Order: sequence, then C-alpha cells, then structure tokens
Amino acid sequence: MTAPILRSLKDLRALTTQWHRDDETIGVVPTMGALHAGHLSLVETAKKECDQVVVTIFVNPTQFNNPEDLDRYPRTEAEDANILEPYGIGAIYVPEAKEIYPDGFSTTVSVAGLADMMEGPGRPGHFEGVATVVAKLFLQTQADKAYFGEKDYQQLLVVRRMARDLDIPVQVIGCETVREPSGLALSSRNARLSTAGIEVASKKYQVMQHVSEGLRTGQAMDSLVEQAQSVLLDEGFTEIEYMELRCAETLELLTHAERPARLFVAAWVEGVRLIDNIPVLPA
Ligand code: PAF
Repeated sequence: MTAPILRSLKDLRALTTQWHRDDETIGVVPTMGALHAGHLSLVETAKKECDQVVVTIFVNPTQFNNPEDLDRYPRTEAEDANILEPYGIGAIYVPEAKEIYPDGFSTTVSVAGLADMMEGPGRPGHFEGVATVVAKLFLQTQADKAYFGEKDYQQLLVVRRMARDLDIPVQVIGCETVREPSGLALSSRNARLSTAGIEVASKKYQVMQHVSEGLRTGQAMDSLVEQAQSVLLDEGFTEIEYMELRCAETLELLTHAERPARLFVAAWVEGVRLIDNIPVLPA
C-alpha cells in the first residue's frame, strides 16, 4: 500500500496518536529527501525494529550556512515517494515550512561541546539548525526510535545528546555507513562528481583503512596522517581539511587508539567537500 504523504502536523499527530493507542511502536527516519541506498538501509532497519515507520522529508533552511547550497539542494519528492513504495512504511511526512518554523519562531536548541569541533566551526549555526529541527521532528512524530547514518557521526552524537538532555523519549540508533564496492560512502554529494572525481574520491576509504590499521598496531597518529595526506593529494584530492582521531563516545581528540575511537576525514575533490569516518579498534 502506498504510504500517505502528510503535510500538516495535525494529520501526522492523528495517525501517530492512533498507532500508539494500538500499542504500535513508531520509528522515524529523518531526511532532507533525494533518497539514496544509504537512506533506504535506515528505512529497512526501522521496518525490522518498529511496527510503523515515518520517513520525514524536509530541506531544513536553518542548517545551511550557504544560501547557494540551500538553493541547489535537490528536491525530488515524487521520486522519493516512488522509491519508498516497496518498503511499506506508515507515512511520509513532508511538513510545510510553517509546521516547523511558525511565524515568530524564536527557540533554538544548541548542543555545546559535541557541536564545536570538526563540522562545527566551519559551518556556523549548522548543528543548531540540525538539533532544532530534529527535536521538533521527534516531538511531532512521537517516535519511539530514530535512525541516523554513522556517515554523519558527529550529527548522530549531537542528536543523541540533545534527545537525552531534553528527555525526549526516543532511542537514537546509529546505522553503519553504506558504501559502494570501492568503499566510497554513499552521499547525495557524490552526484556532483565526474567519473574521474568518483575514482579519486574512492581512494579515500583505502587510505583511511591503512591509517586505522596503523593505529591499531600502536603507531602514532601524526606520522600516519602526514603519509595519508600526501597520498590523498597525489591521488587528486585538492585539500584535506581535517584527518583526526577522536573518541567514539565523546569526540575528544586522541593521538593514539587507546580506547574505541573513530578516524574522521573531510577532504575536497572537484570542488565537492566529502566527509567520512570509520571505527578504529583500540591498539
Ligand atoms: O542528515 C540529514 O539529512 C539532516 O541533517 C537531518 C537529520 C534530516 C536534519 O535536517
């Protein structure tokens, strides 16, 4: 059955309230649309774990610090609805802007600490925009569980902390990054790369794995990063913005893999900024 597309909070609440009355659990997959296999794997996991699944599609203006990025963000609602059809979800929520930001909206949610590194400083207001819209989507959908990709690992931790700090009764679940056979993490940004650019971008995963393996065998981050950066630049990346080892729970910066950690990279190819991260096992 085709999932209804709901545009008002009133319609959404009528459905989710009924589901809860019927003792059904609700999973939410928040998205900005332009769905790809990464999103669909979140939907699949949500379907396995919840009685009802809501996919939200909202291109959230407050998390874009560059108006051009917001303008050129793909809006593909009809295709997205088609792609979702085989999954048998309960509803697609495509809120009108006024449902999220009514006139006079003046409350924002900011998560100190976790939002102040890596993606934070270069994108002022980004995580505040994300935390605010996701808090609203949690409250609007009344979801019991929410699914986020580990590709945006910092976002996952920010959202999890926000839900915990605000006592929003939702379990925030991180799902493994979906990759091309080459290891390239799926992202809507990959569509902006030429075939040659994709080939360059695909080299990043191997290099990250090499660094991760070096860390696991006790090598220090500094020398591994130096080597890795020069390999990536030789392969065709134009800039490595950061390559950092951080604690998987707190995102504290580490020099050695002395506890469960993740290796984070942001790098540019063909004018497109790509981020990725992988787990690093303790040495
Ligand atoms: O990851 C995204 O697509 C967005 O940041 C999210 C979580 C849907 C909030 O707008």
